[in-house]
Amino acid sequence: MEFFVSTASPSRQRTDCAIVGVYDKGVLSAAAEDLDARIGGRIAKLVKRGDLRGKTGDAVLLADLSGAPVERVLVLGLGNRSAFKRKQYRKALASALAALSKTGARDAISYLGLDEIGDVDAYTQARVVVEAVAASQYRTPDHKTSNKRPKPTLVKFGLAVASRGDKGQAERGITHGEAIVGGMALMRDLANQPANVCTPSYLARTAKSLAKDYKKLNVRVLNEAECKRLGMGSFLSVTEGSDEPAAFIVFEYYGAERSQAPTVLVGKGVTFDTGGISLKPPAGMDEMKFDMSGAASVFGAMKAVVELELPLNVVGIVPACENMPNGRATKPGDIVKSMSGQTIEVLNTDAEGRLILCDAITYSRRYKPEVVIDLATLTGACVIALGNHLSGLFSNDDELAAELKAAGERADDRAWHMPIGEEYGEALKSNFADMANVGGREGGAITAACFLAKFTDGLRWAHLDIAGTAYQGGANKGSTGRPVPLLVDYLLNKK
Ligand code: BES
Ligand code: MN
Ligand code: ZN
Repeated sequence: MEFFVSTASPSRQRTDCAIVGVYDKGVLSAAAEDLDARIGGRIAKLVKRGDLRGKTGDAVLLADLSGAPVERVLVLGLGNRSAFKRKQYRKALASALAALSKTGARDAISYLGLDEIGDVDAYTQARVVVEAVAASQYRTPDHKTSNKRPKPTLVKFGLAVASRGDKGQAERGITHGEAIVGGMALMRDLANQPANVCTPSYLARTAKSLAKDYKKLNVRVLNEAECKRLGMGSFLSVTEGSDEPAAFIVFEYYGAERSQAPTVLVGKGVTFDTGGISLKPPAGMDEMKFDMSGAASVFGAMKAVVELELPLNVVGIVPACENMPNGRATKPGDIVKSMSGQTIEVLNTDAEGRLILCDAITYSRRYKPEVVIDLATLTGACVIALGNHLSGLFSNDDELAAELKAAGERADDRAWHMPIGEEYGEALKSNFADMANVGGREGGAITAACFLAKFTDGLRWAHLDIAGTAYQGGANKGSTGRPVPLLVDYLLNKK
């Protein structure tokens, strides 16, 4: 897809499809007025006939026009003028793209942003446009032998802005937007693959091929023997019952002086979570192929960072394995020793995410990181607490939490700051080891975060529980690409 920014008026610019808006009560946007003057008032007539009420999301396509160099005009309802903000802008764009995908248009220009939009500047508009186009064109790597969805015909998309100054801003927004959607697509491709394709070795191979594509990206993969030498008894206890070899994947990107402390991203890479000996019930278990979404988001964020060549140092750490039951599998009550030296009583083998993350967090210390952020589909309890809209955000540093929360808001990939603390940590007491890997049912997302916090002494650390946000179930089952937008926005805004 090629994106461009234009300052020409709709009545003068050649295109396969001009996208203009009408507010409620039949109020034409300035762009619609301008165009309508050349095409014989077709838009005004449409409104007058009552065929377009101006409700946000309504769309009517006009063709066979003369007077302006446009093949088609897509007229969109934008709702109330003063209520038209970023959320409505996103919604309107999504329905424009849905309507557009049913036409043969190869290129299009959106004039929706020519009017002032309350909370959207030209930079943000461009990012939203790129994200909307990418979302409408994403195709999952499916394994269907027939009924393939046709390839989109749209190959070029323009964004009209009011001034030269806005043009520069919008172009920057396009560059950032393209990196974000590229990262999201990588995440979604990985997470959507079934677990018999996307194994730990597959993730390792993908990481290596990414390093081939980008000279500035280094990748190292540690095998189980190397992890054992490092003392990662907790990580390895999870892979014990699987025939697939585990992989510990490390990305390094140095965009600043080597002496500058890096940001470390740690992603949970359980390529399939059966629960292990604490076996999960069958309903919906297929969705546990998405249990490597944290890992996939690290892949996506790393790709965006190298694509943008950000002036930062960023390290990505992905402990990858399966959680399976077999004769060698870890059993409830088994005690394992983590890389930190602390011992853990594994009371529930289904609480495996924290067991692999704690060793990855300990490993991150060798980088003397500025911050460590882990991403994980860690608990069903987080989905109960926050549903599918916001990720759970936990941190031992309120300032870091605030920065991540703000990044999520800017990127429309929101997270909610949740508590941690000694009171909650109490639930993890064990009679036989330094800690148990589970507390009770209550506050399950919080006790999971408190478990991780036991490995973060002296680190600035945050944890995003993305169990509810990283993928969708139901008819549109699949990876959402979240939290790549939040992560990239955070990195873009790092001072
Ligand atoms: N991968 C799951 C968490 C999960 C559940 C993600 C549902 C997405 C949807 C995790 O490994 C897990 O099984 N957690 C347990 C923890 C419990 C045993 C303390 C859970 O949430 O039930
Ligand atoms: Mn589990
Ligand atoms: Zn899991």
